[in-house]
Amino acid sequence: MAHSGPIGVFDSGIGGLSVARHICARLPNEHLIYFADSANNPYGDKPESFIIGRSFRITEFLLSKGVKALVVACNTATASAIHLLRDHFKDLPIVGVEPGLKPASFKTVTSIVGVMATARTLKSHKFHVLHQLLSQQSGVTFILQPCPGLADLIEREDPDSPEIKASVKKYLTPLLEQKADTIVLGCTHYPFVQDTIKQLASEMGHPELMVIDTGDAIARQLENVLRSHGLLNTDTDTENSKNLAIYTSGDANTTAQMTQKLLAKEIPVKEAHF
Ligand code: DGL
Repeated sequence: MAHSGPIGVFDSGIGGLSVARHICARLPNEHLIYFADSANNPYGDKPESFIIGRSFRITEFLLSKGVKALVVACNTATASAIHLLRDHFKDLPIVGVEPGLKPASFKTVTSIVGVMATARTLKSHKFHVLHQLLSQQSGVTFILQPCPGLADLIEREDPDSPEIKASVKKYLTPLLEQKADTIVLGCTHYPFVQDTIKQLASEMGHPELMVIDTGDAIARQLENVLRSHGLLNTDTDTENSKNLAIYTSGDANTTAQMTQKLLAKEIPVKEAHF
């Protein structure tokens, strides 16, 4: 596979752009093809078999565009499907995401950490193993908070809209009441409401709340994987503004508008329905 080929990135919607922006910043020579499965968002309350099926279809689509590596920029899809994708697409380097329990365990002072994620991620075997291991290793108490509806709202509403504020407040309040001083963003949509989380925590008397977003750690991991496979793009002719192309299974205009709002950049969006 040529080192100049693009990197495929996908999520149930625009959430994975919170990871893509870190990849673009860290690896400006790379081209990214991002697939937002907006027609099927949210994944968080869908059966595992559905998420696995979509993950395979999307990977095949991205491979048809010549991708040299894949980033599953979705905690829910990583938890449900990454082991199967790796088994099937043996020659494709695949990087996934998982809630940042480990970095949170280093940061927390109260030894109480809140984990905000989709119900599907928190129920998964992969997360269960991570949770057991980190609880034992660190002695930290992780309070698991499923956030149904939040990713869905982030797909449609402004991060500082009353709907998003109400949803964040509902899920954050019990975590603060139980003395969590650190919050793990266990869904790639949530970094887009990070400021809202901090602002609400401040209003509730917790201005020191720490929030863990693993976007840059994933970009670093991808860099290591590409380097170890001899796939890092060393050509420096990529124009930074042109290194991200977006496809959606939903409506191109809606996805373009949301992308413009979240990344403050105009990026062309094409539709791909399958
Ligand atoms: N962004 C996703 C995640 O990281 C999925 C959200 C959803 O579609 O429910 O889990």
